[in-house]
This record gives sequence, structure tokens and C-alpha cells, in this order.
Amino acid sequence: MAILEIQGAPHAAILGVGAYRPVRIVPNSEVIEAIDSSDEWIQQRSGIKERRFASPEESIQMMSVAAAREALEAAGIDARQIDCVVVATVSHMMQTPAIATAIAHELGTDEAAAFDISAACAGFCHGISLASDMVRAGSAKRVLVIGVERLTDILDRTDRGTAFIFADGAGAAVVGPSDTPGIGPVVWGSDGEQYDLIRQTEDWRDVIAADRPVMPALTMQGNAVFRWASFAMAKVGQEALDRAGITADQLDCFVPHQANMRIIDAMARTMKLPDTVQIARDIAHQGNTSAASIPLALARMIEEGTAKSGDTALLIAFGAGLAYAAQVVTVP
Ligand code: COA
Repeated sequence: MAILEIQGAPHAAILGVGAYRPVRIVPNSEVIEAIDSSDEWIQQRSGIKERRFASPEESIQMMSVAAAREALEAAGIDARQIDCVVVATVSHMMQTPAIATAIAHELGTDEAAAFDISAACAGFCHGISLASDMVRAGSAKRVLVIGVERLTDILDRTDRGTAFIFADGAGAAVVGPSDTPGIGPVVWGSDGEQYDLIRQTEDWRDVIAADRPVMPALTMQGNAVFRWASFAMAKVGQEALDRAGITADQLDCFVPHQANMRIIDAMARTMKLPDTVQIARDIAHQGNTSAASIPLALARMIEEGTAKSGDTALLIAFGAGLAYAAQVVTVP
């Protein structure tokens, strides 16, 4: 084989971040009746005060395009300069084709490679890792990474363990070349022994076989997930800091998956993050939006000024699978 030498960039960085939050705000008072709960219980156990539920018009594609346009604008990049679109989602209800292709087309970047990835709540950090590797290897110059969910389509509104947690939204980031390191080495993996802890209630084929036109929903063993996330994930976060060659004292921002406020606090305590580290707490207003949660949380911190350009931020995503991925990034 006569391989043509491809030159990648010396480093990769996030060049811009964007967000789309559905218009409808749903306070706890709207979800408690169906699950015999209370605003106080939900806030105490999860830190969630309200979340956003998408309308029929706020589709996976519509929310993704809106978040992507904001990220492109922040990066100062035209959509035609993107040569790969990666969409992390578990709630695009068409098995094929990948929604990434339709999103690339609507953005006007038809020649881009486009594909979806399924790593649930860990999807966005998987996408950032792939994008960083592509940019450095030279297989893509600029990559658009989108995390998007309409979890309300697969939510059982009467399930006490999930109905108050999950929500909808989209976040996006443009990853491109950089002279200095902007995305640290990824620490990722999975724990398939706990494959069953968060999952779809049943296989589509069983639904059809039973002639029961009911959408399979999300189900979760909350306690076990809570224990795993609070402790195992703190170690993964520490390893991401080590691999980036920094200590907790040198960290400016901590942007973990917005699963539950108590998990966020437990991780920060276990990692002994100093008070100077700004911690993302988007979950209070956004609920758990799975693949969208980290870019949404980062976008809010940039918007509010708690994350400043050049800051060092630890991203850590985890969820169904159990899959996880973490990396240190420079805030664009
Ligand atoms: N409202 C009110 N009470 C509820 C409730 C609800 N929605 N769900 C459970 N309870 C009650 C239970 O009946 C139980 O009562 P009892 O002590 O009288 O028997 C009590 O609250 C504790 O139940 P438990 O299931 O142990 O709740 P928990 O403390 O584990 O909290 C979660 C539930 C879901 C908030 C918690 O497990 C959690 O946050 N898990 C991780 C979720 C997560 O992050 N998932 C995403 C990962 S990507």
C-alpha cells in the first residue's frame, strides 16, 4: 500500500460551545402527582427544581441544529468548514439512518462525515475524545460534536425512580486544531457487569411479539447507580487530572454529568476539589439530559462567566452501560 502521508494538527481544542434548552419549563409541582412525591423530596434527593420538556416541534434535529449554530458562531466557523459531525444520543427514535446526516445537511455541510454514537450519558465525552483524535490524526480538521436527547419520549411519567430526573435538550461543541494542548488524554471505559442498572425496559421485538403498542421506557436501579457514580467516578476524574499533568489546585472548573446534585457533591468531596473550583450545577434547572448535560452545563457557565476563556475544566460523563469518559479541556 502506498499510503499518502496525512498531517494532523499538533493539538486539538474546543473552539466554541452552544446550547439549546426547550422552551417549556416544568417545575417539580408538575411531576409529583403521578409519582406520589413532593417538591421537597425531589430537591433534597436530586437537587432538581425544574427541567425542560421539548414540544413536538423541538425535535432531536431541530434542537441539535440550534445548539450547533450557536457553537459554530462562538467558534467563528462556517458550517462548510466542518468535516465531521458526531451526534451522541439514545433518544433518536429512528434506528437508521443516523440523525447526524440530516443535521449535517440542514447546517449546510453535506460533504462532512456524519454518524451517531450510543454511549448514553457518557456520549458527549466519547465524542470529544473521538474528535480530538481525528483532528490530531488528520482524518478531520474540524469536528462538530453534539449531545442531544428527548428523554421524555422514553420516560414513564409514573415511574418514581426516573420521572423526576430525566429531561430534554441539546448542546454542541466545535473541536479543531490548536497550537497548544486544549483537550487532555481521555480516561474511558465500561463496566458491563452492571449493564442492567440503567436500561430500556424491554426489547422492541418483545413489544411487537406481545402486540402491546407501548413504548419501552427508561428504567434505573437508582441506589446502585448512585453508589457507583459517587465513588468509582471520582477515581476516573482523578486519573484524568493525572494524565493531563495537573493537580486539583490547578483546576478552574468541574463540569460533571448532571445526573444528581448529591453525586456532583460526593465526587467533588472525594476528589478533594478546593473551594476555588467552580462546579457546574445546571441540573437544578435542567434535570438530567444524558448526552446533552455536559455541553449544556458548560454553556451556562460560560454564559454566566463562572467559566472563562483559557480556564482548565474537568469533564466527566457516566451512565448506562455502565460507560464513562473523562478529560481535562481548556474553556474556549
Ligand atoms: N418521591 C418520593 N419518595 C420516593 C420516591 C419519589 N420519587 N422514590 C422513592 N421514594 C421513597 C422510597 O419509597 C423510600 O421510602 P422508604 O424509606 O420509606 O422505604 C425512600 O424514598 C428511599 O428510596 P430509594 O429508592 O432508596 O431512594 P434514593 O435515596 O436512592 O433516591 C434517587 C432515589 C433516584 C434520587 C437516587 O437513587 C439517585 O439519585 N440515583 C442516581 C440516579 C442517577 O444519577 N441516574 C443517572 C445516571 S446517568
